Amino acid sequence: MSNRIIITQSSIQTYELGQKLGTQIKNILKTAEYSKQNLKFGFTGDLGAGKTLMIKGIMSKIMPKEEITSPTYTIINEYDVNAFSIFHVDLYRINNFRELEGTGFLEALVNPRAVMFIEWIDRLGNEIDNLCADIVTVDMHYISPEKRKIIIKNWREDL
Ligand SMILES: Nc1ncnc2c1ncn2[C@@H]1O[C@H](COP(=O)(O)OP(=O)(O)OP(=O)(O)O)[C@@H](O)[C@H]1O
Ligand SMILES: [Mg+2]
Repeated sequence: MSNRIIITQSSIQTYELGQKLGTQIKNILKTAEYSKQNLKFGFTGDLGAGKTLMIKGIMSKIMPKEEITSPTYTIINEYDVNAFSIFHVDLYRINNFRELEGTGFLEALVNPRAVMFIEWIDRLGNEIDNLCADIVTVDMHYISPEKRKIIIKNWREDL
């Protein structure tokens, strides 16, 4: 399980990287493997680096019929796919765990049937590690208008 560092040269490349990851997740959801690999993804990095775009790429493979909108205002968007719940979360405006009580977020963290894509997961600090082990992290950095550096940690498939 090594870290991957990927440089993308355009929005399309980042979207396609998301699609590749989405295909792998979709395949895992078809088997009992989902209970072995924790499907919680935390996205961090620069403002406007491409977190939402990459998640849209992922979602386009997991639920091609659904129109994905950014959770900037809703904080949590939840979609049902077969027997799974797919969460797209944006914690940019969240300051601590208490603000998430009653939203279903904390319950989902420990539910193996919840697949989560969490933008700005670092807003919650280190406490998240006590609640949820083995989070896959996707750290996205702005290099130039079209170029991004993407560091993926803890994902066991090849990308
Ligand atoms: N290589 C690239 N990868 C990703 N996005 C790129 C790239 N080059 C340009 N962009 C542009 O950067 C923007 C990324 O926006 P996006 O909303 O996905 O970022 P974000 O990280 O979710 O932002 P926020 O921090 O506000 O949540 C888009 O307008 C996209 O077209
Ligand atoms: Mg975003």
